[in-house]
Amino acid sequence: MGASDIREPNRTLISQGPYEILEVTEQERLERVVREHEIDAIYHLAAILSATGERNPQLAWHVNTLGLHNVLEVARELDLVRVFHSSSIAVFDPETPKDFTPQETILHPKTVYGITKVTGELLGDYFNKYGVDIKGVRFPGVISSVAPPGGGTTDYAVETFYEAMKNGRYTCFVEERPVLPMIYMPDGLKVTLDVMDADLSRLKNHTDFNLAGVSFSVGELASKIRKHIPDFEVSYVPDYRQEIADTWPHSIDDSAAREEWG
Ligand SMILES: NC(=O)c1ccc[n+]([C@@H]2O[C@H](COP(=O)([O-])OP(=O)(O)OC[C@H]3O[C@@H](n4cnc5c(N)ncnc54)[C@H](O)[C@@H]3O)[C@@H](O)[C@H]2O)c1
Repeated sequence: MGASDIREPNRTLISQGPYEILEVTEQERLERVVREHEIDAIYHLAAILSATGERNPQLAWHVNTLGLHNVLEVARELDLVRVFHSSSIAVFDPETPKDFTPQETILHPKTVYGITKVTGELLGDYFNKYGVDIKGVRFPGVISSVAPPGGGTTDYAVETFYEAMKNGRYTCFVEERPVLPMIYMPDGLKVTLDVMDADLSRLKNHTDFNLAGVSFSVGELASKIRKHIPDFEVSYVPDYRQEIADTWPHSIDDSAAREEWG
């Protein structure tokens, strides 16, 4: 198992296997790396996330769509690579039903990030016709105690813990109330491996499985943290990310994932 990124690796990564500095928009080098290491499955996670994407839409479009296209082209050419695609709840839009959002529903996202994720789902399905084994899920906000948040709209759900521990206070960039769906990183990793093990011939959906974890607001999170840090204070100064959060669902119906691959 190996990893790649445009960033320098840390010690833990280096100790765990081969690591390549790799720009996902460079198809030739991507192909060379896949050949050199005889890679048979690509977990394609490289992306510009929702909040960073709204600040730099050109970069988000370039990295997210060209990156996936390159991965799919390499998979098609080498005829043996399986691909995981990380989609997102950002594919939904303000008119999508917000509670228990169905698998098949309105997808007219209002962020460039959401547009790239819908494009990715469709492109992945298209590459099925070349026999590329691609599967993917629509991640909710991912919460990790190890990886720092990476420029997404649900970053507050991780930052809250760090700021509570470090400073005892947190200034949150969304309001107290919006309830958004989240998933704990180990569960997200399990789901990623499980969907990749699913029997392709049994699947009706491929690149776009809804995925549910737990839904909560930052106000609810803060009150739980106060059980351990009673003086923890949160103030709310919503910025442009509030507008993004307003377009996303509160909870997710993931019955298709349950039925098709358990
Ligand atoms: N974190 C979440 O809450 C969340 C929610 C839904 C979907 N996702 C999706 O899951 C995937 C992983 O998200 P994450 O939270 O780990 O994001 P992250 O920002 O922590 O990691 C993305 C990585 O992509 C790398 N990258 C950026 N541009 C690149 C390029 N041109 N070439 C190669 N690498 C590049 C970055 O250096 C970064 O390490 C992404 O596709 C994201 O859209 C994440």
